[in-house]
Amino acid sequence: MKIVQVGIGGMGSAWLRTIQASDEVEFAAWVEVNDTIADEQAAKYGLDRALIFKTLDEALNVVEADGLIDVTPPQFHRAISLAALDAGIPVLSEKPLADTLDAAQEIVRKADQTGVLHMVAQNYRYSVPAQTVKRLLDSGELGAVGSVAVQFYKGPHFGGFREQMPYPLIIDMAIHHFDMLRFFLDRDPVSVFGRSWNPPWSWFGGDASASVSFGFEGGISASYDGSWCATGRETSWNGSWRLDCEKGVIILDDDAVSVQRWTGVDGFQNVNTEIERVPDVAMPRTAQAYLLHEFYTAVTEGILPATTCQDNIKSLQMVFDVVRSFESGHVV
Ligand SMILES: NC(=O)c1ccc[n+]([C@@H]2O[C@H](COP(=O)([O-])OP(=O)(O)OC[C@H]3O[C@@H](n4cnc5c(N)ncnc54)[C@H](O)[C@@H]3O)[C@@H](O)[C@H]2O)c1
Repeated sequence: MKIVQVGIGGMGSAWLRTIQASDEVEFAAWVEVNDTIADEQAAKYGLDRALIFKTLDEALNVVEADGLIDVTPPQFHRAISLAALDAGIPVLSEKPLADTLDAAQEIVRKADQTGVLHMVAQNYRYSVPAQTVKRLLDSGELGAVGSVAVQFYKGPHFGGFREQMPYPLIIDMAIHHFDMLRFFLDRDPVSVFGRSWNPPWSWFGGDASASVSFGFEGGISASYDGSWCATGRETSWNGSWRLDCEKGVIILDDDAVSVQRWTGVDGFQNVNTEIERVPDVAMPRTAQAYLLHEFYTAVTEGILPATTCQDNIKSLQMVFDVVRSFESGHVV
């Protein structure tokens, strides 16, 4: 299967490495607007400089492609997705699906109309800790989930588009955690209330901190507290999770999953087992490699991936509903 990768700087490097390591997918061409990045990446990754084009149109005039990977910043996802879908080329797009809900809806409509696959790279679902939590939940051992509490604290100095965008934590990052909530719970949210702020020392233009409360189908509650300008005690990129279940608690902390079971009551006190580490699931492929393989099997065998744009827009909707709540001060 031959692929065009659009955007080869930044996160594009991770995709260049993933595709170069794949025995299922190879490059047809690349698209990169920045000549310096094109030159540097061509030298670093041994890419044929003549096949790095300035626009997608130019690339598609010269090469045949069975798929396209979009690793450009969010504001370019709409135009690139629409052009690829119109040309009948399946798309694997970096998250977020788009920078606005209108743009995301337009992509979903186009994918529906053309019947061409469009999937979103929600790689956080496909990490060992996330799959370990999911296996435990799906086993039913701990019974129903009542609530979930997520904490995410990091202090990255990215520069670039994230430092200018409004609500960078929620729009650029929390999409991963919101999508993980939908993945873990197998349910969609029904309400949200949130508040955002920018700490006085923040190096982001938009609000980098937030506190959000979701109501999910089935009466499950989820809280999300986070900051992208934390000055210490950072969490992992997955964040710290506590899932309160009928028969115990699941904890995801520092990318390790553990569980404490509830076994009864003694007087007024609960009786619990010791906190025990849950063995990691074995995964032959994780993250980008997992998604690339899913994209390949979707294109070559028609097996529908979990994170199609039609499904993923529900995770993105969470992001924009959170922003609506920030701006209105109301429950959405
Ligand atoms: N899944 C993850 O864990 C993860 C991590 C980081 C970034 N991302 C996502 O990846 C995307 C890119 O982010 P980034 O950090 O790499 O951004 P970046 O700005 O560092 O890199 C984007 C690259 O795309 C190029 N580019 C921009 N517009 C283009 C266009 N129209 N055509 C061709 N090339 C173009 C830029 O020159 C640059 O090389 C974003 O959607 C971001 O949210 C995902």
